[in-house]
Amino acid sequence: MNKLTIGLFGFGTVGAGLYTVLQKSKTVDAQIKRICIKNPDKRRNIDAKYFTSNAEDILGDPEINLVVELIDNAAAAYDIVKTALQRGKSVVSGNKAMLAEHMTEMIALQQKHNVALLYDASACGSIPVIRNLEEYYDNDLLTSVTGILNGSSNYILSKIFNEGETYSNALKQAQELGFAESNPSFDVDGYDSLYKLVILTLHAFGVIIPPSEVFNFGISNLAECDIRYAREKGRKIKLVARVGKTEDNNITLYVMPRMLTPDLYIYSVEDEYNGVVIRGQFYDKQFMFGKGAGGLPTGSAVLSDITARFHDYRYEYKKFCTPNPPKYVTDNLVTVYLRYRNVSDFEHFRFVEISEKYTSSEFCYVVGKISINNLLSIKSLLPTLDVFLATMCS
Ligand SMILES: NC(=O)c1ccc[n+]([C@@H]2O[C@H](COP(=O)([O-])OP(=O)(O)OC[C@H]3O[C@@H](n4cnc5c(N)ncnc54)[C@H](OP(=O)(O)O)[C@@H]3O)[C@@H](O)[C@H]2O)c1
Repeated sequence: MNKLTIGLFGFGTVGAGLYTVLQKSKTVDAQIKRICIKNPDKRRNIDAKYFTSNAEDILGDPEINLVVELIDNAAAAYDIVKTALQRGKSVVSGNKAMLAEHMTEMIALQQKHNVALLYDASACGSIPVIRNLEEYYDNDLLTSVTGILNGSSNYILSKIFNEGETYSNALKQAQELGFAESNPSFDVDGYDSLYKLVILTLHAFGVIIPPSEVFNFGISNLAECDIRYAREKGRKIKLVARVGKTEDNNITLYVMPRMLTPDLYIYSVEDEYNGVVIRGQFYDKQFMFGKGAGGLPTGSAVLSDITARFHDYRYEYKKFCTPNPPKYVTDNLVTVYLRYRNVSDFEHFRFVEISEKYTSSEFCYVVGKISINNLLSIKSLLPTLDVFLATMCS
């Protein structure tokens, strides 16, 4: 491709980060022509001539041949990206919620209009996971992808475990540092990790799974007694997303806090860093590690997508196009720690086996095996219960 003329949507943490990173890069002939933002009255630190609040100034400009979408509103992002692709403009996006919810349509739009949509920045910030899953791990030897995919919740858990910080102070710090999404529930309740996991599952195993069909549970109910339990067992709690093959070559996935032992790579992933362990039949395990949030690291990942477009790169979705992709199954068992205070809350959980049990006037817990199906059936009820759940598997 010749010169890239960019129309940028969003000038928040990542949009401004991209602007800075792009100024320093000499390897790609790309220039931002216009920047569309929501609030025209906000003070900006670059020339006002760039800014508009009218999306049409970008989408209707024939000179702009690449749209970079970095806004914090998934519904508006969907309209912007869809319109851009329909008008023959390739797009780079960081919006995992929009991508995970509309992936089937986004793939069809790329094919129909012969354009590309790149989104490596949408999962794991600066770590190039998606393109590696797509290009390097492009065969059926891959067995699982397990990772800390959300920088904000990992920052919060690091501050709690390593510095004894309170949950609310740690969340406030994550927000001030630009690691957190505008709506913190997105990070701490595991939705951000869930959307990223859905995208990684497509590029790892060729399957698109609607986010609503995947179990996710976050860290917002974490209590002092859960931290004490983890410490006594020599473990740390991290929010972990996992997709893996089952024994019959199908796949299963979920997002849950996990009680990690020190021998695991992701045990040492702290602060806003992300870490992803890729397992395969013959290479055992490989580990990717890097900053998963923040304006400049994520801006670098966006620049990498822009450079890829400069070289005409597009995802081929090779695994998605194979005739027999694996099936998504939910009848498998996981070993979990469940902390509760009321027996009526506990009664929603159908454990098939219990290996540890503790009861006191302050709180109770059990460790045992439960099916993903059971957890999925009570997913919408869980936010109303006073419980904390974490997987125990290493
Ligand atoms: N922050 C991170 O570390 C990180 C990491 C990876 C991916 N991401 C993703 O990157 C995207 C941006 O995140 P962010 O942290 O940079 O968000 P942010 O700091 O909240 O900035 C959002 C920007 O979007 C603009 N905006 C909102 N609605 C708009 C609309 N309808 N049309 C045009 N502009 C609109 C806002 O305009 P105003 O400036 O006028 O308010 C603002 O400039 C999100 O999809 C996020 O999930 C973020």
